[in-house]
Amino acid sequence: MASSSSTSSCCSWLGLVMAVLAMTVASFGSSSAAVPSTRFRPTAWSLAHATFYGDETASETMGGACGYGNLYNSGYGTNTAALSTVLFRNGYACGACFQIRCVTSPWCYRGSPIATVTATNLCPPNWSQRSDAGGWCNPPRAHFDMSKPAFMQIAQWKAGIVPVMYRRVPCVKRGGLRFTFQGNSYWLLVYVMNVGGAGDVAGMWVKGSRTGWISMSHNWGASYQAFATLGGQALSFKVTSYTTRQTIVAWNVAPPSWSVGLTYQATANFY
Ligand SMILES: *[C@@H]1O[C@H](CO)[C@@H](O)[C@H](O)[C@H]1NC(C)=O
Repeated sequence: MASSSSTSSCCSWLGLVMAVLAMTVASFGSSSAAVPSTRFRPTAWSLAHATFYGDETASETMGGACGYGNLYNSGYGTNTAALSTVLFRNGYACGACFQIRCVTSPWCYRGSPIATVTATNLCPPNWSQRSDAGGWCNPPRAHFDMSKPAFMQIAQWKAGIVPVMYRRVPCVKRGGLRFTFQGNSYWLLVYVMNVGGAGDVAGMWVKGSRTGWISMSHNWGASYQAFATLGGQALSFKVTSYTTRQTIVAWNVAPPSWSVGLTYQATANFY
């Protein structure tokens, strides 16, 4: 009896705690910018077309318009694509991840397999070609010029061009944001890489150990710059996601002895 009564008192007490906890969690989630509301979710599928550039080695995809340089070193590998102007958004789509599947073409592989690619480059318009005859990347077309290895995951390369369905998906990254430094003693140019979640970046701030937060301006691709003298100071960064508008702070990413040409990795990342 005693044990049963104590059990019942235990459980109703526990139940009350659980109910309060659930209410706390629910109100926290709805009343603040907590993680669940900013986590990037896959978008709906849309129609576009895809071609490929370069060969099986994907060497032509290195050094693209996002500024990621050698894609093996920067971690993007060969599953990449150059985006047409409307998708590239002047570089603000750099780092975004897409699922692409070939549809309605006899060249599609059976079962319409999905290739997952990261935007690393711009497919520029060619105004001397009509947009329905070679000028595939001309506005207003949504078009993916994929690396050949990525294209070969969805269709036979002989197709040349295929209709595709595509959607944005979260970028799954290991480890924190990576910052590659360029510039000089009064101009810091930072390439942001290994961005998780939506994968894209809308803006950045830098803070030296002896300065406040300094707003950085968009330079090109996935790079941001500050005209400031930051040598000899530990550097922290604040990064805002383009799509989710979530901002995260990466404290003391680079030590006071930082130098250009090096890459520094934070522990913080989007997801
Ligand atoms: C643009 O198209 C023209 C006509 O087909 C071609 O000769 C030229 O090489 C193309 N330009 C680029 C940059 O691909």
